[in-house]
Amino acid sequence: LVASIRQVSSDIAHDLKTPIQRVAVVLDQVMNKTTLTEGQEELLSKAIGETERIVQTFQSLLQLAQIEGGAVRDRLHSVDLAEISRDIVDFLEVEAEERGFALSLRIQPDAATCVRGDRHLLSQLIGNLVQNALTHVPQGGPVVVGVTRTGGETILTVSDNGPGIPESERSKVLQRLYRLDQSRTTEGNGLGLSLVSAISDLHGARLTLEDNKPGLTVRIAFPATEPA
Ligand SMILES: Nc1ncnc2c1ncn2[C@@H]1O[C@H](COP(=O)(O)OP(=O)(O)O)[C@@H](O)[C@H]1O
Ligand SMILES: [Mg+2]
Repeated sequence: LVASIRQVSSDIAHDLKTPIQRVAVVLDQVMNKTTLTEGQEELLSKAIGETERIVQTFQSLLQLAQIEGGAVRDRLHSVDLAEISRDIVDFLEVEAEERGFALSLRIQPDAATCVRGDRHLLSQLIGNLVQNALTHVPQGGPVVVGVTRTGGETILTVSDNGPGIPESERSKVLQRLYRLDQSRTTEGNGLGLSLVSAISDLHGARLTLEDNKPGLTVRIAFPATEPA
């Protein structure tokens, strides 16, 4: 049943993505090629925003189906998790600061931090986790991306000091489209952690959600490989 629901959701996403994108193009034309009152323009930009969010959701559902399909597995090669983390932290640092967060990186010195992976998907995984901290921690604060090596595994952690996720909800938030009640009004579609979980599975890694006392620590343990 779960498999068939998944299939249906990706079929729907696939079939509806193109028509929705056409609607977006038409709305854009109305916005740019006609004269509108301020009130009309305001309503129209709401509609444009909504269609963008729908397209984004469909894109994430399709990407999820693609990752779960496993075809990417043949593309994995040795990549340095520390280097990927550094790049994504550099990229998100300014946005984090603007939103009241101190984003930092903690890399264990002299540790072997290479894993068999896909650079693009791993950047997305780390990016989703950092974005979650920026979105779901209302008061700002420190966000730490860590890379360490223990017992032959390369461990990636992303930690914040926010409200965390209650233990009873931890497996549910990994399901697609599931969001905590407290997050109903924040931006998002409930697919970020589903993607993180799918990417983690693709890499043969183990994902756990832990209590950072206070806050959330997402911990992902990758089977280690030697650098290529
Ligand atoms: N760092 C975090 N702190 C507290 N709650 C979180 C955090 N990350 C995720 N969550 C909760 O898990 C839910 C699912 O996360 P996600 O799949 O990324 O969806 P989205 O961010 O689009 O809501 C979020 O809606 C939020 O309720
Ligand atoms: Mg998210």
